[in-house]
Amino acid sequence: MKSAKLICLVILLAFLASTLSAPVASSSQDRIEQRVNALLARMTLEEKLGQLQQLDGEANGNFRPEHLQMARQGLLGSTLNVRGAQKTNQLQRIAVTESRLKIPLIFGFDVIHGYRTIFPIPLGEAASWDPAAAERAAGIAAAEARAAGVHWTFAPMVDIARDPRWGRITEGSGEDPYLGSLMARARVRGFQGSDYSAQDKIVACAKHWVAYGAAEAGRDYNTTDVSERTLREVYFPPFKAAVDAGVGTFMSAFNDLNGVPSSANPFTLTEVLRGEWKFDGFVVSDYTSVEELMKHGLATNGADAAREALSAGVDMEMVSRLYNKHAGELLKDRQLSQQTIDEAVRRILRVKFRLGLFDKPYADEALEPAAIFNSANVAAARDIAARSIVLLKNERQVLPLDKTVRSIALIGPLADSRQDMLGSWNGDGKVEDAVTLLQGIKSKLPQVRINYAKGCEVNSGKTDGFEEALRAARESDVTIIAVGESADMSGEAASRSSLDLPGRQLELVKAVQATGKPIVVVLMNGRPLTINWLAENSPAILETWFGGSQAGNAIADVLFADVNPGGKLPVTFPRAVGQIPLYYNHKNTGRPPDAKNKYTSKYLDVDWRPLFPFGYGLSYTQFKITNLQLSAQRIPLNGKLTVTVEVENTGKRAGDEVVQLYIRDVAASVTRPVKELKGFQRVTLQPGEKKRVEFVLTAEQLGIWNRQMRFTVEPGEFKVMVGANSEDLLETALEVEKR
Ligand code: BGC
Repeated sequence: MKSAKLICLVILLAFLASTLSAPVASSSQDRIEQRVNALLARMTLEEKLGQLQQLDGEANGNFRPEHLQMARQGLLGSTLNVRGAQKTNQLQRIAVTESRLKIPLIFGFDVIHGYRTIFPIPLGEAASWDPAAAERAAGIAAAEARAAGVHWTFAPMVDIARDPRWGRITEGSGEDPYLGSLMARARVRGFQGSDYSAQDKIVACAKHWVAYGAAEAGRDYNTTDVSERTLREVYFPPFKAAVDAGVGTFMSAFNDLNGVPSSANPFTLTEVLRGEWKFDGFVVSDYTSVEELMKHGLATNGADAAREALSAGVDMEMVSRLYNKHAGELLKDRQLSQQTIDEAVRRILRVKFRLGLFDKPYADEALEPAAIFNSANVAAARDIAARSIVLLKNERQVLPLDKTVRSIALIGPLADSRQDMLGSWNGDGKVEDAVTLLQGIKSKLPQVRINYAKGCEVNSGKTDGFEEALRAARESDVTIIAVGESADMSGEAASRSSLDLPGRQLELVKAVQATGKPIVVVLMNGRPLTINWLAENSPAILETWFGGSQAGNAIADVLFADVNPGGKLPVTFPRAVGQIPLYYNHKNTGRPPDAKNKYTSKYLDVDWRPLFPFGYGLSYTQFKITNLQLSAQRIPLNGKLTVTVEVENTGKRAGDEVVQLYIRDVAASVTRPVKELKGFQRVTLQPGEKKRVEFVLTAEQLGIWNRQMRFTVEPGEFKVMVGANSEDLLETALEVEKR
């Protein structure tokens, strides 16, 4: 009897142990797979193709009448741009109650840097070098979007961009794969959390797969030609980071890549994404990019285009309707297999189940108003916008400005432009929510006289406002001048061949500066600009990007030292368009630039170096980075080490420094960049405070794609560099041993 009890106890304990150790996530995933397969088995071909179709709603967030009918017949899988709890519920109700199989729709929307509360443009957010801030912004955006019935964002945009002519550089994290990967991971986590069925989370979409940012000559949608090495070293890593963070969907890009359009590319869509990386979510095409396969010259007709895209691995077709039109006949003609169609449907249903849409298809209309643009979200937007600001120059400590100043001239076309504060892709952001610099300064310093004058437009030939601007400057103690680009000069289809300040703005700055009054230049722009004259002649320059709903308050916080700026450039600022592409992690060449030797790699008419390097940014205080040490000067292959430095605030104010770790593989089986970012930390230090900053360098960070395209660590000498930007670095040597 006793032994029988014991056996029972052992069995019970074993059972408990097995249930506890069984990964809960995987059993719920198994259940999802069962439900997907059961549903798939009941679907007609038309219903299956319906799931593969996404259509665009209207700009105001409404759906089109046709969508109702399609939803009713089960011929629509998803919409984009339809938003608002009431509107999404109305359409969802049709799908869920009137269609035969009651499959819910998934509502997609471009929630790029905020839904209604708008955060800085992603390039600006990357300038915070603070992934936690990006995660927080994405988390707020997700909560607002989900409350408004949106399930799916077409973000993060994780395209590496080395060409600032390309307007979409504004939407990404700049030029560096490591910073880009950390930002990608942070944003995916922010949008999705650990379970995107949560009512304050949405499923993310890593886009644009892939190398869209490599568009030739920076012209949007242009051809790309990128070696597999550069794909793996530069363009893939942020996408891989998104997959590792559990991103639910991908978007295939517009560009053709090495002769094969990204929306019909089996190598990237299937071999790498599904084969190597085991991604099990779905891929949506970019807007009509399936149909565009004909213009690319890859497909002779619509059927061809559908076959190429679907069989390469694009599951959902955005806006064009070729899958629906042609997949049936392709199937009959055996040009497409049933399995290919089923797999695409399976992937889409899987994500719909993971979103919890079958159990909770509707948004709670009563909760929507309080979730959106509430005071906590607005406060976060102010905070994050201020963290994104980069101080580029501060001669004779013109900044910060004194709050007791009697009068301020606020000049420039961007000083009071609400629309421009939101940047491009501003979701459901409302112009009336945006705080301009004029408003921000007024509410911070209500007692100060502000002489505001626009001076000129962002991009026009007129100078008739100069006079008023000069008068304002002369009558004031100090001048702040806000210049740059309008929001629509970057973003999609917004490439520029010149990176100069557009219109007559530079002349305006020069004229105002000639008054002799202290002047601060506040830049607002979606990309690096060639601001050589300003860099040389203006005493203080603040790069503020497009700061979002709270831009004006955040900039005022920085100008008047309620926040000490600590951002750093996530992208190189060139001196001339002719230098492009110009990025810090370039190769050395056989003839690295040498001013004293003509036959080295440089220009006759412009310095080879950037105006401001990657990772650059100042503070109102000063920092000293010293005492670079490695835990070991030699490590075995696959070993790791700790890198430490001391960073000290030697100035008089509390402030943030971003300590950056770079390496160089001195000689390898393939040529390596002169520097590669491998770690960074944004630290806050009180005046006089000193901190040890520690990085762990692992074999993975020292590894390279060798000649056989295998990722491996090669023995030999490395340089380890730490500093405050990609040029001012302490350096020491590291040996990776053969064993
Ligand atoms: C853009 C995508 C975007 C899509 C839907 C396209 O034109 O390239 O980034 O997600 O439109 O709005």
